[in-house]
Amino acid sequence: MITCSAPGKIYLFGEHAVVYGHSAICCAIDIRTRVQVEKCDSIVIESVLGRTGIDHDIHPYVSRVIEKMQEHAEFKGLRVRVDSKLPVGSGLGSSAAVTVAGIQALNHLFGCGLQLEDIARIGHSIEKEVQGNASPTDTYVSTMGGVVMIPQRRKLQALDCPIVIGNTGRFSSTRELVANVAKLKGEFPEIIDPILEDIGSMSAIAEEYVNRKDYLTIGRLMNVNHGLLDAIGVGGPELSALVYAARNSGATAAKITGAGGGGCMVALADENSAQRIAKAIRDTGAEALITRNTGEGVRLE
Ligand code: PMV
Repeated sequence: MITCSAPGKIYLFGEHAVVYGHSAICCAIDIRTRVQVEKCDSIVIESVLGRTGIDHDIHPYVSRVIEKMQEHAEFKGLRVRVDSKLPVGSGLGSSAAVTVAGIQALNHLFGCGLQLEDIARIGHSIEKEVQGNASPTDTYVSTMGGVVMIPQRRKLQALDCPIVIGNTGRFSSTRELVANVAKLKGEFPEIIDPILEDIGSMSAIAEEYVNRKDYLTIGRLMNVNHGLLDAIGVGGPELSALVYAARNSGATAAKITGAGGGGCMVALADENSAQRIAKAIRDTGAEALITRNTGEGVRLE
C-alpha cells in the first residue's frame, strides 16, 4: 500500500492577470490531500463523495488519473482512497492536489519512473480534460511546493509567516469569473488592460520583496492587488467582509485568492495576530483556517 499527499495553494499575486500571460506568485499551503492506493481485483475509488469504480461524474479527477496511468503501467484492479483537508471548489487547488497525489501514488505503486516535471505535466493535462481549460499553475505548485513565480516557474524564498484563509462557503465558478473578466476587457480594453498589466507588474516587483522576506511591503502590495481584483469585478460583499475583518484585526495583508466571486480570501499574519484574525473571520459566519507555506510538494507519506 502506498500513500502520497500533495498541498493546496493560494495566490499572493496575479490571479486573472495570469490568464493573459502576466506574472503571478503562488504559494503552496500546508493543507494536503492524501491518496492511498493498493493493488486489488477491481477498481474501487473511495472518498467523502462515495464509493465508485471509474466514474467521471463522481470522481472525475481520480478516474482520469487511473486511465492516464494505464498508459504507464499495466494493471486491472486498484483500490484508491482519498482523504482531503482542502475544501472542494473554493480556489485552494483541491482538484490539482488530488490529481498530483494520485499520479505520484500510482507512480510509486507500479514503479513507473515518472519525475516531478512529468507529474506536473500529466496533472495539468488531466485538469484540462476535466475542466475544459485550466492553467498549469495549480498542478505545478502542488507538485513542486514552495513559492513559485508563474509562468516563469521560478522558485522564490519561502514565506515564513502564518497564513489565514477565510472561506465564504459560496461556490464560485472559475470559468464564469474568467469569462466575466474577458467580457469587461472586451468592452473596455483601455481601462481593463492596464489594470491587468498593473497586476502583472505588481508580481514582478513583489518578487524581490518575497525573496527579502519583507512582509510589510508584500502585504501593502497584496492589498493593492485586492483593490484591482475588486475593480475588475471579481470581488463581492462576502469576500469584502472577510478582507476587512482580517485587516481590522491586524492582518498585514488581506485579499481575494483565486477566481473570486465567492470562494476564499487570504490574509498574511504574524505569530501573534493569526488567531485573532481567524476569530474575526469566524465571527462573520465564515470558515477560517490557519496554515503556512510548505516547501514540500507532492510526497510519499
Ligand atoms: O480559483 P482558482 O484556484 O481556480 O484560481 C483561478 C485563477 C485564475 O487566474 C482566475 C484562472 C486561471 O486559470 O489562472
